[in-house]
Amino acid sequence: MKKILILYFSGVGATKKVAEQIYACLSRDCEVDMFSVENSEAIDINRYDALVMGTPTYHAAPAKIIMGYVYSMPVLSKQVPAFVYNTRSLCSLNTNRLPLCTPLPRNGIIVE
Ligand SMILES: Cc1cc2nc3c(=O)[nH]c(=O)nc-3n(C[C@H](O)[C@H](O)[C@H](O)COP(=O)(O)O)c2cc1C
Repeated sequence: MKKILILYFSGVGATKKVAEQIYACLSRDCEVDMFSVENSEAIDINRYDALVMGTPTYHAAPAKIIMGYVYSMPVLSKQVPAFVYNTRSLCSLNTNRLPLCTPLPRNGIIVE
């Protein structure tokens, strides 16, 4: 069974709510772990076959704590596909495409 990691940050709950919905859908067919990035020390990211990453939009950028995780992430032992999402109130501009998705391939993460 495929193992999927859902990693998110949520200030007041919207991004967590989306993560929970994704968890409910994926758990039908896959083994899924879900963590707030605040509890990311326990994660062995090399255990997973795919990654879902969620962040609120703060000033047209991902949350700093998510970017901190991305930049401290190890290079993975195999290439892993990822789905990246953000929540926003109006307009996320390049929140996902530039700051978040650009560094991920360096770690072996292929954003779908
Ligand atoms: C400091 C701050 C900056 C924000 N900047 C943006 C923004 O640039 N664009 C936008 O559409 N929403 C912006 N928002 C709204 C949040 O992205 C939105 O409410 C998000 O769903 C919050 O997620 P959370 O409930 O998981 O914390 C901002 C919110 C805060 C508190």
